[in-house]
Formats: sequence, structure tokens, C-alpha cells
Amino acid sequence: MPTPKFPFEPDDPKDTSGMRKGLTSYGDQGFSLFLRKAFIKGAGFTDAALDRPVVGIADTGSAYNPCHGNAPQLIEAVKRGVMLAGGLPMDFPTISIHESFAAPTSMYLRNLMSMDTEEMLRAQPMDAVVLIGGCDKTVPAQLMGAASAGIPSIQLITGSMLTGSHRGERVGACTDCRRYWAKFRAGDIEAEETVDVNNQLVASVGTCSVMGTASTMACVAEALGMTMPGGASPPAVTADRIRIAEQTGAQAVQMARDGLSIDKVLTPAAFENAMRVLLAIGGSTNGIVHLAAIAGRMGLEIDLAALDRMGRETPVLLDLKPSGQHYMEDFHKAGGMATLLRELKPLLKLDALTVTGRTLGEEIERAGPGFPQDVVRPASRPIYPQGAIAVLRGNLAPGGAIIKQSAADPKLMEHEGRAVVFENVEDLAERIDSDALDVTPEDVLVLKNIGPKGAPGMPEAGYLPIPRKLARAGVKDMVRISDGRMSGTAFGTIVLHVTPESAIGGPLAHVRNGDRIRLSVASREITLLVSDEELARRAKESPVVAPTAERGYRKLFLQSVTQADQGVDFDFLRAPHSLGKVPQ
Ligand code: FES
Ligand code: MG
Repeated sequence: MPTPKFPFEPDDPKDTSGMRKGLTSYGDQGFSLFLRKAFIKGAGFTDAALDRPVVGIADTGSAYNPCHGNAPQLIEAVKRGVMLAGGLPMDFPTISIHESFAAPTSMYLRNLMSMDTEEMLRAQPMDAVVLIGGCDKTVPAQLMGAASAGIPSIQLITGSMLTGSHRGERVGACTDCRRYWAKFRAGDIEAEETVDVNNQLVASVGTCSVMGTASTMACVAEALGMTMPGGASPPAVTADRIRIAEQTGAQAVQMARDGLSIDKVLTPAAFENAMRVLLAIGGSTNGIVHLAAIAGRMGLEIDLAALDRMGRETPVLLDLKPSGQHYMEDFHKAGGMATLLRELKPLLKLDALTVTGRTLGEEIERAGPGFPQDVVRPASRPIYPQGAIAVLRGNLAPGGAIIKQSAADPKLMEHEGRAVVFENVEDLAERIDSDALDVTPEDVLVLKNIGPKGAPGMPEAGYLPIPRKLARAGVKDMVRISDGRMSGTAFGTIVLHVTPESAIGGPLAHVRNGDRIRLSVASREITLLVSDEELARRAKESPVVAPTAERGYRKLFLQSVTQADQGVDFDFLRAPHSLGKVPQ
């Protein structure tokens, strides 16, 4: 007769899966497991429930985060999927970041969230993790953290909000938020109408309904192979979204069993596919920064020059605001990412592995044939002939800058004008609406000190408003330049991510009122028409002192944050060894 198994010693001492993972033994693993099980049984679990693969579920719900307002339903569905597949689901909280409730800017907190995610994945026993997120910084933070933690990981997107209706017009956050506010600033609508439209812009829980950063990162996550097929597009409140959640839970158990760790998915081929998709969807410029950060965790570097080359041969196919007309729910009805990927197939690395254990190419085949729709254009009839984003260089941005050309005024893409300089956001706020501001529509608006260290956190202040007196006169677009970022839902001839930033003494710091600046998107140049000697003289005359802080997270941030080309990640969080550039 076999001796009954003592439940606190493993059959195989090398078995460190499930509840045995990460035991803090201090010399007595048996006691450590005994304690762990005693505590979890305080929540009513039986041994039968505990003795199986554990799937962690990162919950980023919060009353401050309506973009994740469906988190409770998603968690319930993920748990069902995990249990149907024979695993034990364990949901746990991490911090939650919403774009409108994260001062000084959500980007300031992204790396903190990635550290929270990484360390909780390491600390708690789990064989795989489902990362639930949607709002702009969440998906990048979770992918960064999971990439560093290294365990089998699968992303579950919360999904987009529904569109609303304002006086017969379809509206959605947040391109239309900007449009209506610009109308109000220009005196085209009354204050009462702003109250009405305010009730319609965000018609349900979920993420912004245009191709902003949230939708961009949802599509990028699917292109990376990190979501279930079709996981990018279902709106937050739909049955499709809940079904994806259930499938995600079940797949997480399979990944745990197969040991399908994140490094097998986040390969150079996957990043190249993500870059393609970012260009073809007219994605948010923030997507580049986030991709650089996620790649950096895997020891990879996004090659901006190559991204620009890829852009020249990758048309924008997705007809979504702000580059096009539609909203995320329309993209979903048009077949979602399968429709886009089918169209992009000749440009993709089809052998990239996904979380399903199948390749991207196999998933495209499994999705079946397409059907007539008008949201994803065929390559023969693109929304915009080139990729959404162009990478600029020149003496004003030796480390590069970018422009979302698909959302810019074609007339301004070859332009020379006089610089009208704002030293920082406070200076901008003080003077931009003054009737005394010396500015014409041909001028180039320059804003300094909104880079990674400058503001700090590289806020989305790069979308400088048109000076009120020009807006009232009907001016809709001007060339604007900064070292900051711009919301993916914004539009205009806006040069962003100027590197190195002004707060650490980049050339942008030395631009003065009246200098001439030339933008040529055709030749990918951003040039300050001031001699090197004069710039050196100015640098000596007014040396830049990089900002510092006395204590806390701000001190860590200012000491460690990298520039835009390295993803604005902390230097100590990047992988210690470089595996080269993407594409390879
Ligand atoms: Fe959360 Fe736009 S504010 S996605
Ligand atoms: Mg945004």
C-alpha cells in the first residue's frame, strides 16, 4: 500500500510550479508552503483548488479609471476561462493610471506601473499572467513589466468605448473633444453647447474610440502576438469582449503548461510586425516611444531610420480618426485586426510566434477570408500613401524627431518660418492667448522644456493651441515644435520628441524668438537656420542646468529617465545586454 503523500513536500523537489513557486524557504520550504496554504485557505480554498497551475490576473480597475470600468466583468470571464481549462485564477491589483487623472502626466507614472507589474509577477506565485489593461499607459507598462519578469504572459485589452451622438452628429473621445473645444475657442459655438457635447463624448466605459494611443497599443499588442487573435478591437461593453476574456484565461493555462514564456513571443520579428502595424493604422506617435521601451526590456533597440524607411513602403490603410473617418467599433465590425493583417501580409514576418502557440501567419489563415467593408482599405486604395509617421533629423534634433504626417496639413509640410518661442508650459499658458503676442500664421511655434526630464514626464503638451487671435481669424493649423509628446487623438503639423530635449541642453534650448526654422517632411529635415558658432555662443552664455529633485520617485525619475529614442524608460530597467536593432 502506497504511503499517503505528505502535502507540504513536493514529489519532485525541483517542482516550483503553482503554489510552490517562489517559496521564501529560509531553509524550510515545507513550512513555507504550509504557511502559504494556511493563509490562502482563510479565503475558503480547498487543497483540490490549490493543486493546479496558477494564473495571475493583473487588475487595473479603479474608480479613477473609466477606461477600465469593465474590469470586474473581464476578471469574471477570465476566471471562468482559467477554471474551464483546469487552472486556478488569482486576481490581484496593481496601480491604475488614467490619462485625465494622473498629474503631472500619466507618462510620469508609466515606469512606476511597469515596476509594480514586474515585481508583483515575480513576488507572487503564478505560472502565467493575464494582464488586463487598456488606457494609454497601461498596456505599455504591463508589457514592459512582463517582458522583464519573463513568465508566460498574455494581454487582455479592456476595449474601446462606444460612440455618442451630439445633435445628430456622431462623436467620440477624444479627437472630437479637441474639435469641439477648438470650435469653442474660435467662438464658433456657445458655452451651453460645450455642456451638451460633454455628456456625449464618452458614451460608455472603455478606452478612447479613435486611433489614439489606447487603440494603437491594442493593435500593437495583437501585432506583437501578445493577445488572443481578434483581441484588439471588440468594444468594452460587448459580448465579443467578454468572450475574448474567457478565451484569454483558458489560453493562459495552456501557456503555463507549455512554458510559453514571453521571450518566445517578443522577438525581433514580433517588433518588426508591430512597427508595420503602427505605420499602417495611422497609429499614435506615442506608440513609437512605448515600443522602444518594451523592446529595450528585451535588449532590442527600435531603429528609427529603419522605421522611416518602412514608413515609405507602408501605406495607411485604416480609416479611423484622426487620420480618417471611423471609430474603433467600426473597425471591429469590419473584422478587426484580421482584416488589416490580411491586407498587410506581404509586409509581415509571418513566422512570428503568438501567445496561442501558433504563428501570426497561421492565425491570419485561421481567420478565414475577408468580406466587403470600408474601414480597412486595400493597399491599392490607401488612406494615405505612406506610413503615418515620418522621422526627422537636423541640427535642431540630432537624435531625431517625429511628425505624424497623415494627420498634418499637406500645405505646411514644406515650410520655413520665424520662431515664436515659449520657454515652458507656464510661459505658454500665460502668453498664447494674449492679443499682444507677436505671431502670424506663417510663424513656427516652439515650446521648450516638455521632454522626459523637462516637465517632467514628457507630457502631451506638444499639441500647442493655435494662438487665440489667429484661431478667431480662422487659422486651423501651424507648424509647432517641441520635445514633448502629443495625444494620438490630436492632429496638426506638429513636430514632436525633439531629441536631445531642451532640459538637458539639446539645441532646442537655444532657439530664440525670430530665428528661422525650416521643416521639410519630404527630405525628413528639421533645421534651425542658425550657425553652429552662434549656437555654441548661446550655450555658453546661457548654460542649461538639468532639473533635479530632493527625494522620492521624482528624484529616481530625474536621475534615471532616458530620452525618447530609448522609450523614456529608466536606464536601470532596460535589459543589461544589447541584442541589436529592430528590424534586424
Ligand atoms: Fe483612457 Fe483615452 S483616456 S484611453
Ligand atoms: Mg491619449
